Amino acid sequence: MKIKKLTLAVLAGTTLLAGASIAQAAEVEVLHYWTSGGEAKSVAELKKMMEAKGVAWKDFAVAGGAGENAMTALKARVIAGSAPTAALIKGPSIQEWGNEGVLANIDAAAAEGKWDASLPPMLANIMKYKGHYVAAPVNVHRVNWLWVNPEVLKKSGAKVPTNFAEFFDAADKIKKAGYVAIAHGGQPWQDATVFESVALGVGGADFYKKAIVQLDQASLTGPTMIKTFDTLAKIKTYIDKDSAGRDWNLATAMVINGKAGMQFMGDWAKGEFTAAGKVPGKDFLCIAAPGTEKSFTFNVDSLTMFAVKGADAQKAQLTLAGAVMSPEFQEVFNLNKGSIPARAGVSRAKFDSCALKSLDDMDASSKAGSFVPSFAHGMAIDSAKAGAIQDVIAKFMNSNMTSQAAVQALAKAAKTK
Ligand code: BGC
Repeated sequence: MKIKKLTLAVLAGTTLLAGASIAQAAEVEVLHYWTSGGEAKSVAELKKMMEAKGVAWKDFAVAGGAGENAMTALKARVIAGSAPTAALIKGPSIQEWGNEGVLANIDAAAAEGKWDASLPPMLANIMKYKGHYVAAPVNVHRVNWLWVNPEVLKKSGAKVPTNFAEFFDAADKIKKAGYVAIAHGGQPWQDATVFESVALGVGGADFYKKAIVQLDQASLTGPTMIKTFDTLAKIKTYIDKDSAGRDWNLATAMVINGKAGMQFMGDWAKGEFTAAGKVPGKDFLCIAAPGTEKSFTFNVDSLTMFAVKGADAQKAQLTLAGAVMSPEFQEVFNLNKGSIPARAGVSRAKFDSCALKSLDDMDASSKAGSFVPSFAHGMAIDSAKAGAIQDVIAKFMNSNMTSQAAVQALAKAAKTK
């Protein structure tokens, strides 16, 4: 994340007051990037819940998929010594912020809500810094999905694909029938989202872990990674010419409206289908990205808590943490968001077929060792390396770079400090 470098550069001699900020009594300010239709509906539930508890909600929403803009805004606020109560920060970045000494210890909320007993240990560990809870998980998103408009496939004479051969066969037919085969937004994080699903589909979970989580140099430059980029190059030929800079939810809208056939995207896309009144299995299909049926790339959204000054502000922060982990919140939020609850003890009754598949596949993949962290969504590696790798993928997507050159650049990016 390079906050340290940024902090030093900007402060140049001023003192960073350990991020302690003065929030108003009984108010929480929450930084997030949940601004699309489905996302906004989800976060509105948290606002409602906090207000019902007598805590005012100060919305700090910064648009921009996957949160790049939000993180820039957050750094500026922390450097200015006025961190919000909480921010949507995930995975290894929680540790990076912990190292800055600006996070709050929320063990009291965790003890009261018995978090250790209701979270899988692997997930609980992500939420802790040096053994203390500093973040509250809201969900588990699955990233390796393909969203399909069955009507477009039918009209094109295409079948629902399960592997890459079938996928390209379907894409050919959809394209020939005059639709956009693959809805995509040309933004680096969306490119990375497609890339990681392709790597998983081409190489399987063990390859994914070795190459993308452990950053093993031989795996990064070997034949499977070459094949991953070759596949990505082929995918490019099915994306429409107006994709540059397109937001992910607008790409999803193309599938919703029957303009496009398929989209690679995490299940926040389902939030868009649901918000548009669409029904899974009928109006749209959620299927595993080609070749990834047995694996699950996870992306856990969490609200990371910043040190705030004053007993009232601290109390409101603990109330927020408690609310986020309550079964009531985890149900209603995730019904809207497209994800599944992070905690145990939430009824499955109201969840749709996509969420139930996600719940079952999370279980099965955890047992099989194919439950893997999403690199594109900040769960796998530190932010400096992830950023450098993302840049290589974006360059590949936007140029005639060969797969050979791409794997070499990838291996170099993986060494970023
Ligand atoms: C976040 C999701 C969000 C998506 C699009 C992902 O990185 O985890 O909560 O909906 O980006 O902004």
